[in-house]
Amino acid sequence: HEPAKQDQASSGDNFSRGGFILAAIGSAVGLGNLWKFPYITGMYGGAAFFLLFIICLLLVGLPILLGELVIGRGGRGSAASSLVRLSGKKAWGGFGVISIAGSFFILSFYGVVAGWAMHYMILSFSGELFSNSDFAGQFAGFNASWLPVLWQFVAMFLTAFVIYKGVSSGIEKFNKIFLPALVVLLVLLMIRALTMDGAAEGVSFFLRPDFSKLTGESVLVALGHAFFSLSLGMGTMITYGAYVDKRQSLGTATLAIGGGDLLYALMAGLIIFPITFSFGIEPGQGPSLVFIALPAAFEAMPAGWLFGGLFFMMLTFAALTSTVSLLEVPVAYIQEKLGWGRKLTTVVVGTLCFLIGVPSALSIGQYDWLTFGGKAFFDWMDFIASNIILPVGGFIVTIFVGYVWQQAGEEAGLTAAWFKLWIFMVRYVAPVLVLAVFLYTSGLLEL
Ligand code: PHE
Repeated sequence: HEPAKQDQASSGDNFSRGGFILAAIGSAVGLGNLWKFPYITGMYGGAAFFLLFIICLLLVGLPILLGELVIGRGGRGSAASSLVRLSGKKAWGGFGVISIAGSFFILSFYGVVAGWAMHYMILSFSGELFSNSDFAGQFAGFNASWLPVLWQFVAMFLTAFVIYKGVSSGIEKFNKIFLPALVVLLVLLMIRALTMDGAAEGVSFFLRPDFSKLTGESVLVALGHAFFSLSLGMGTMITYGAYVDKRQSLGTATLAIGGGDLLYALMAGLIIFPITFSFGIEPGQGPSLVFIALPAAFEAMPAGWLFGGLFFMMLTFAALTSTVSLLEVPVAYIQEKLGWGRKLTTVVVGTLCFLIGVPSALSIGQYDWLTFGGKAFFDWMDFIASNIILPVGGFIVTIFVGYVWQQAGEEAGLTAAWFKLWIFMVRYVAPVLVLAVFLYTSGLLEL
């Protein structure tokens, strides 16, 4: 059988070894670390939540990350055709539905936030942001206009431009420039934040756990965020894995990606919490945290326009290295499925992703009818993707590598001890934890 009309292996456009690691870290590190992680940590328990997140990352995230990379490199196709090819069963192509839904849902709100970041970068560098200190009012005013749609378009346009260029001269090249730039900005801002008066209180909120603050929902959110943060559960790492050299050690890559992601989350926390606490800002205020709270802090510090501009620039870079990986998933899938070329596919899929982002952009403050059940369209997209689609997708990956595809171990190329550990995690620990969290939060299981 030949499940795919055209696959990546035959196109020969692959990552170099270092390029793959950078691109995969670029995918993992994004708004998840710098925008979402700080506010959910603020909302769901501070340091205790951070610890929970690390546990989910180690027990569930890393084993599934390796699983996805191995499936991609073994199957050398899109998130759907790789599974079909390795199992010999067409039904596994159903994973394509999850991967398409995941990328469209996530891009819908993610592109909007990437747009916000670009807008705020310009506002801060130009000083316009500080012409009036009502930052909540400014954010609301911005969201009541059509500007967020325009900026979301810019974000999707830049993303599509990179994908249009292909794997080595698009994705890899882009990450080689922006990921190092991101590290430099992050370290600079971390030093600035940690040397502020009152920084210690923020550090202690972030790093000294108080378990009484945890709720049942904290566990679901921590697990969902482990998937989101490592770009798992919708085939991003399967898709990237298909462009990886056979000689690359995927075990090492897994540790590098997981370590990199955790390090960025740690640094983001060491930027945001010292700043919020020094300025007496409540860290649990949700998606608007970095756009409302931080400008107040930047306003009060010397050369705040510069630090503010750099912060939003960093947010922009981090966002775009992830949107690129999100768009590559449906582009690779549709290219194979319909036999279209990369360029045509990119234009069509990129346009669709932009359109799906429009209601997200308009649901924050503009149109009330885009809010149902107490959540805006924007928040629904995030909620459904992070807490349902990604965990379901991740669960399927554990079943596939743990029970269905017998040669997964050979492709992984681990030493005997690591292999034993991995297969144990992927067979018993990760799927059981995902299932337990699902049952618990749906009320079917009580602890
Ligand atoms: N990992 C990215 C972040 O933390 C988001 C993402 C999720 C990217 C899923 C790709 C796939 O921002």
